[in-house]
Order: sequence, then C-alpha cells, then structure tokens
Amino acid sequence: MKKIFAANWKLFKSPKETREFFAQWSEAFKGSKNEVVFFPSAMSLEAASTSIQKINAGYDLSFGVQNAYFQAQGAFTGENSAAVVKELGGKYVLIGHSERRQLFAEKNELLADKVAFTQGLGLVPMLCIGETLQEREAGQTKSVLKTQLTAGLAKADKVKTLVVAYEPVWAIGTGKVATPEQVQETHKDVFEILSTLGFTAPILYGGSVKPDNAAGLIQIPHVDGFLVGGASLEVPSFQKICSAI
Ligand code: PGA
Repeated sequence: MKKIFAANWKLFKSPKETREFFAQWSEAFKGSKNEVVFFPSAMSLEAASTSIQKINAGYDLSFGVQNAYFQAQGAFTGENSAAVVKELGGKYVLIGHSERRQLFAEKNELLADKVAFTQGLGLVPMLCIGETLQEREAGQTKSVLKTQLTAGLAKADKVKTLVVAYEPVWAIGTGKVATPEQVQETHKDVFEILSTLGFTAPILYGGSVKPDNAAGLIQIPHVDGFLVGGASLEVPSFQKICSAI
C-alpha cells in the first residue's frame, strides 16, 4: 500500500516562504511511489495551491487545511471553509489535532461534525487522536483512543475515504518519540478499534518524526505513513523523511 507522508506546518510560513519552500522542494524531491501532503497555515493555502499546481510531479502530491468548520459559509467569524479548500484544489482536512483539542477546546462531538462535513464535500478527513502522558502512565491509552475514534467517527461514512493520525500528545514537538514497541502496540490497537467500528483507514504516526527515526518507524506493521511537524519545515529534512521507504 502507498504510504502517506504529511507535513503539518502549523502557524509557520507566510505565502512568500511557502512559495520559496516549493521552489526548493521541486528541485530537491523528484519522486516517490508514495503520497506527499502539505498542510500549510490557512493564510498560505492559496500560495501552496498555486505552487503545487506548477510542480509537474510524477508522484501523488496534494495539500489540505489544518482545520475547517462544518459549514461551507455563513456567520462564523474567524473560521476556515473546507469548500474553499476544495475550490483551491485541496484534498484533505486535518481534524482534531491535539493543539486544536487542547488550546482551542475542540471536543469529539464537534470533530464528528467536521469529519462528516468534510466527507460530504468529497474531501478526505485526517482525524488526529492521541493520549496525554498522564493517560499513558495511567494505562488508559487504548480506552482514550477508543473514545476519540468512536465519538469522532460517529457521523462518518464507512465507505468514504478517511485517514487517521495517531499522535501521542507527549511526543508532539518534544523530541520524545514513542518507542518502536509503543508505536507497534498502539497502531495495532488503533487498527483493531477501527475494524470493530467498521472502518478501514491508513494510520499515520506523528510525534517527533525526524530523518533519523523515520526509516525504522515506517517498517512497523500498521504504520501507513507520518504526520510531521517540526521536521517538515525544511526541505532537506522532510525530503529525507519522504524517502524513508
Ligand atoms: P512534531 O509535530 O513532528 O513537531 O512533533 C507533529 C504534529 O504536531 O503533527
């Protein structure tokens, strides 16, 4: 199966920096049998869209938005529209990243509406799940993930495409990557929970993925790709990660 390598740029890179990145990227990265996805900040989406359209990629190259509301338009000050992402040629909507859950208090019920709305538009939701350190230490990882998946996918269409990103909260931006054993065990659990709920979806790992750990992690069963933050901001490091297999 094709792996998915996704870059989460968070609130980094202006439109100008985005164009500069893609100019370098198209020189440095010539191809892959895998899929490469970029999640720029919303204000740099059009720059990313235009840049990506100019790249004559011989591989699957796409982009998406880091968050979008569950309505296409209306009186929702400050929100992003997935319909606009679609108009720009985007493919994905990242939903429920731990920063959205923790800093912006997004709850599973809201995420379920976003997943359903995204699928309804014909875009692909990438639903993020993950436990905190406290939850892992209390032995609650599997039950937390089960709750996040059950509630987050409550309104999802089982036939439409879906991607899940498992990101232990304690590994995001901390340099503390989960051990191969932890990744293996947890991805197996996520796969089983998804199967029980009736879903089949690629499961990405995220949390301090770097060029030096990517090759090992991508070999683990049920690791179908990565969601990469810090190491996706520079062309050389993200290119190395995308070449891990
Ligand atoms: P990180 O971020 O790779 O910097 O840990 C991952 C993410 O937040 O998606």
